[in-house]
Amino acid sequence: MNRLDGKVALISGAARGIGAATARLMVEAGARVAIGDVLDERGHQTARAIAGAEGAAIYLHLDVTAEEEWRRAVAATIAQFGRLDILVNNAGLFLGKDIEGASLEEWQRLAAVNLTGVFLGTKLALPALREAARTSPAGSAIVNLASVAGLVGSQLDPLYSLTKGGVTLFTKSAALEFARKGYRIRVNSIHPGVIETDMGEQTFLTRARNAGTNDVAAMRERARAAHPIGRLGQPLDIAKGIVFLASDDAAFMTGAGLVVDGGLTAQ
Ligand code: NAI
Repeated sequence: MNRLDGKVALISGAARGIGAATARLMVEAGARVAIGDVLDERGHQTARAIAGAEGAAIYLHLDVTAEEEWRRAVAATIAQFGRLDILVNNAGLFLGKDIEGASLEEWQRLAAVNLTGVFLGTKLALPALREAARTSPAGSAIVNLASVAGLVGSQLDPLYSLTKGGVTLFTKSAALEFARKGYRIRVNSIHPGVIETDMGEQTFLTRARNAGTNDVAAMRERARAAHPIGRLGQPLDIAKGIVFLASDDAAFMTGAGLVVDGGLTAQ
């Protein structure tokens, strides 16, 4: 189950957090992985840590808001590994401001990474994913990082939820377009609850600011308590879901959303 032998993946925003855990798990599952990010030093470290003797991971500078950088990243992935089977649109920002407090510039930055980045990644990786699908029994796969905030309203960040709601429905629309065109590229989204990463930490700080307290630990505890399963998520919890969606075990899934949230949105 969940093997990726012979497959090649490009993961945006994978220098740290969920993306880095996904890169590691994909290499363990037999894939070769290109890590794209704007955090060059961290990205090189992550790639070195998981590459192994086979050199199964490389780092590429990739600002997801820049079309030319996507073009270069896809070309570099193919130059290194010969094909591209899997795209994970993982790079994302959290703002942590309410509607009254957010500026137009902040919205534009958020939208550029969380929305434009997903559109550009999908568009620029498409030719390579189509090509790989021709020699792959179950075709190619795109996995988009949405959020529980792309399913229900967010108490903390309405603009973030605006972007993630967009990712949720873009996923379904892209799945329909590629199926209609016979491309054999499955497109699915994953919807994490609160995960203990730098972004997770940002949500605790936002909760604290909203509550007028410096007690970030208490806010973390409040977030934990909101998850019926009794704990916060770890990057590996989400990486496992992404690897499944990217693998041939999910061959009959497209246009779907996998909710991995400890029951947060079941209530
Ligand atoms: P993180 O902040 O630890 O990692 C995000 C990565 O994206 C960083 O390495 C960052 O440098 C990179 N990035 C930011 N702007 C970029 C750009 N313009 N181009 C390329 N890379 C860029 O966050 P985390 O938690 O690992 O988040 C990964 C994804 O999961 C995001 O899309 C996020 O919205 C989503 N998510 C996270 C949740 C959480 O609680 N941590 C919950 C639900 C969804």
